[in-house]
Amino acid sequence: MSNTEKNTLLIVDDTPENIDVLRGILSADYTVKIANSGQLALKIVAALPPDLILLDVMMPGTDGYEVCRQLKANEATRHIPVIFVTALGEAEDETLGFELGAADYIVKPVSPPIVRARVRAHLALSDQRHGLEQMVAERTGDLERSNRQLEKTHLIMLQQLGRAADYRDNETGMHIVRVGNFSKLLGLASGFLEAQAELLMYASMMHDIGKIGVPDHILLKPGKLTVEEFEVIKKHPEIGAEIIGEHDAEVLKMAKQIALWHHEKWNGQGYPHGLSGTDIPVVARIVAIVDVFDALTCVRPYKRAWPVEDAFALIEKEAGQHFDPELTKMFLSMETEVRRIAVEYSDTADAPPENSVVHP
Ligand SMILES: [Fe+2]
Ligand SMILES: [Fe+2]
Repeated sequence: MSNTEKNTLLIVDDTPENIDVLRGILSADYTVKIANSGQLALKIVAALPPDLILLDVMMPGTDGYEVCRQLKANEATRHIPVIFVTALGEAEDETLGFELGAADYIVKPVSPPIVRARVRAHLALSDQRHGLEQMVAERTGDLERSNRQLEKTHLIMLQQLGRAADYRDNETGMHIVRVGNFSKLLGLASGFLEAQAELLMYASMMHDIGKIGVPDHILLKPGKLTVEEFEVIKKHPEIGAEIIGEHDAEVLKMAKQIALWHHEKWNGQGYPHGLSGTDIPVVARIVAIVDVFDALTCVRPYKRAWPVEDAFALIEKEAGQHFDPELTKMFLSMETEVRRIAVEYSDTADAPPENSVVHP
């Protein structure tokens, strides 16, 4: 309330003389409204809430306690300070008034300086509280906005880290972006909630982060790998899991599972642990399918790009062997979406801006 604007008080009393006394004390400093019954008081408050209410207790019909009870039960009016003004001075009445949420209690016959002082004090308190609440709301809003931004930044960093690791053997880094989008697609199809699928998308982008630990002469070797060299390649899941580490954040837990187990096979013939079936976390089973699909369908210096139908045929053949049969079925049923993602994030597509990479 600004200083130039007068606060509005509502005086509620069924006795005209009492109203006159209070009005005489307060009307010079405040805009004063009058109600001669509890019912009328509630109507006036509902129409235009005053800044403070002076409330008589003993009234026919809706008495002061009931008025106070209703005001405090209503979210829109509970903040209005209520001062009981009554001839009753007994302790139990005061206790009930305070229990109902009254701000203060003045006993009749009233003393003008006390009435003025109490009204002024409670308006000031109410003003302060209102200011504080507004400040808390603003700060909370600011905090939520910066949290969201920070969260987004973290996720983008995961994506870019994944792309950086992929850059050595896949110069565009788009393999990572496609794997992320395919993973989200398959995650949603298999029942993930949108938010979870979104985390899966980012987590999957870290699947080959452990390749950082594989030397160039092996990772980039043009010819066939020796058995020893392949053993070095097979270390990348464990290196990746170690790089990601142990964290509380769900996206990092997922990322670690994916990095560690994306080369496990449904039939137990994969690496590094030879897990089989549903012992392999579902996020890793999802990435296993989409990672192979994308590797098949994109060009590499040593191989041509397979047509989607050939890659689908191979994946179908591996259902129940390499891949989870249920997830395979779902993936193969989404050919249109799969093709759309492949085109949108193709190696020749411009790398999308950082904040839109992930939203097809
Ligand atoms: Fe891998
Ligand atoms: Fe990959």
